[in-house]
Amino acid sequence: MRTRLKAVAGNRPAPRREEILKLERISKGFHTAGGYLSVLEDVGFQAESGELVSILGRSGCGKSTLLKIVAGFVSPSSGKVLLNGIPVKGPGPDRCVIFQEDALFPWLTVGENIAFGLKGRKQSRKAKAGEVSRFLNLVGLSEFRDYLPSEISGGMKQRVALARVLILEPEVLLMDEPFASLDAQSREEMQHLLLTLWQELGHTILFVTHDVSEAVILADRTLLMSKNPGRIREDIPVNLPRPRERESAAFAGLSRRLHAALRD
Ligand SMILES: Nc1ncnc2c1ncn2[C@@H]1O[C@H](COP(=O)(O)OP(=O)(O)OP(=O)(O)O)[C@@H](O)[C@H]1O
Ligand SMILES: [Mg+2]
Repeated sequence: MRTRLKAVAGNRPAPRREEILKLERISKGFHTAGGYLSVLEDVGFQAESGELVSILGRSGCGKSTLLKIVAGFVSPSSGKVLLNGIPVKGPGPDRCVIFQEDALFPWLTVGENIAFGLKGRKQSRKAKAGEVSRFLNLVGLSEFRDYLPSEISGGMKQRVALARVLILEPEVLLMDEPFASLDAQSREEMQHLLLTLWQELGHTILFVTHDVSEAVILADRTLLMSKNPGRIREDIPVNLPRPRERESAAFAGLSRRLHAALRD
């Protein structure tokens, strides 16, 4: 495993970090039956290595489109995405995406689903099995290795989805409302798990949500998007110490501010 130890976990002073991802003047429109629809206009931002950036905006503002452009699934109409200074031309193993309902292979066990992406790797079977064990353990599913997806809960499926991409060691993790379909308690557990994994593994994460408290509990920074066309309206640092207390006055204050901004 590449060592990318998280340097900004907890409240230690953050050392200088490198810029890993840069979006330059991204615009995207679609030709639809109703005419040309401008979805994103002049979107630009940077993320540093190991940063957890949330993208917050109302339904239809272009969050998923933006994430798909970073993933390389969709080409921008203009502008570019740079990863470590190199323009993104399409999907690549350096970026992995997790969606709201991540489809696992129903005929494969939990362990086999997690191992799937290692197929092409030149590693012994034993080494691969060891990696799978490590990631099963990281997401708390060691005892469920031989279960099928139909035999586990929605929250557990999202844990498998997380392990399945983390084992590939992407530099950037792109998450599109990954916990939106979970009940409140499972959702909080997943947020906690994501923070633990992030602090251990140190990925750079773009986390799309329209849930204010999710953005405040997770992010180093929140990019607030406006709609029609989608733009980054504000770049708001979340300077709350970790672990964050949902009941604290500072948490409530920032949440109120973001709620108000979303309503505007
Ligand atoms: N392939 C496409 N063709 C035409 N229009 C599209 C296409 N993809 C997205 N759109 C339009 O772009 C706009 C933004 O869609 P997008 O899915 O990016 O929004 P979103 O912010 O992710 O919304 P939600 O919070 O509901 O997931 C919508 O109006 C949508 O209809
Ligand atoms: Mg979306």
